[in-house]
Amino acid sequence: MKKKTASIYDYPTYYDLVFGSDTAAEMRFLQACFERFVDGRVKRVFEPACGTGRLLYRLARLGYRVGGIDLNPKAVEYCNARFRRRGIKANVQCGDMCDFAVKQPFDAAFNTINSFRHLLSEDAAIAHLECMARAVREGGIYALGIHLTPTRGDATDHESWSARRGQLAINTHMWPIEKNSRDRIERFGIRFDVYKPTESLRIEDVLVLRSYTRRQLNTLIEAVSNWEPLAFYDFGYRIDEPIVPDSETEDVVVILKNVGRRKASKKSGPTTRSQRPAKQTKR
Ligand SMILES: C[S@@+](CC[C@H](N)C(=O)[O-])C[C@H]1O[C@@H](n2cnc3c(N)ncnc32)[C@H](O)[C@@H]1O
Repeated sequence: MKKKTASIYDYPTYYDLVFGSDTAAEMRFLQACFERFVDGRVKRVFEPACGTGRLLYRLARLGYRVGGIDLNPKAVEYCNARFRRRGIKANVQCGDMCDFAVKQPFDAAFNTINSFRHLLSEDAAIAHLECMARAVREGGIYALGIHLTPTRGDATDHESWSARRGQLAINTHMWPIEKNSRDRIERFGIRFDVYKPTESLRIEDVLVLRSYTRRQLNTLIEAVSNWEPLAFYDFGYRIDEPIVPDSETEDVVVILKNVGRRKASKKSGPTTRSQRPAKQTKR
């Protein structure tokens, strides 16, 4: 088997296959969130760190106007090529998710699988949430999904899984290399073993991610006044089964609502259904 050290994000076809298994559940969940939590109608959606656009592309096919940014030019090109093939107009560009601006705010945004943890400092994370508060209109939402570090029990951090499409098969393995709870930087090895009829290839990469306990995530959200957490879910993506994160929680999707600058004067924490404004229009 040939071996390469490279960024897994430089291989959009492989990335999409390896990380695509939850796509259908994510799609159902996101649309249910738009319906349930956004004031007014959702027509335009944005994804920071959109990668290959596996979700944006499907949303665009359902009729949403979509936009996104990603640091990786190969992923952006793959994403835009997919839009071009279908004749879909979309605005996906190379950009840094902690330093960007959009021309017109979106109705909703999402970032579901840990991409946020690529931001390695509190300043970068706050800068991102501030950019997002300008990129999503008031009354709109940002669904942010990350793996938390549990403060009780063991973290699940060795993972192996396989995916196959036609004659392409990929076995993926991910393992921790180093964790530093003081500076909250974690390094994970990740390996794609790629099998095609004509060749087999091993791609190895190191992912550097910032860690968050439940409290650290709450503290961060508190720091940006526009965002109010409405509800939490796990990666089961079941809209009628919100969770209350505790010290053992690992997967979390927090639904943040852009409440403008009002939060400072309000008690923080998830609102109840009766506290939420009634929806004005339905999609
Ligand atoms: C785990 S992938 C997720 C891709 C996509 N959101 C998805 O759900 O399939 C993480 C993505 O974050 C991108 N990324 C990392 N740091 C970034 C940054 N500072 N700004 C924008 N994108 C970034 C990577 O290039 C990669 O495409």
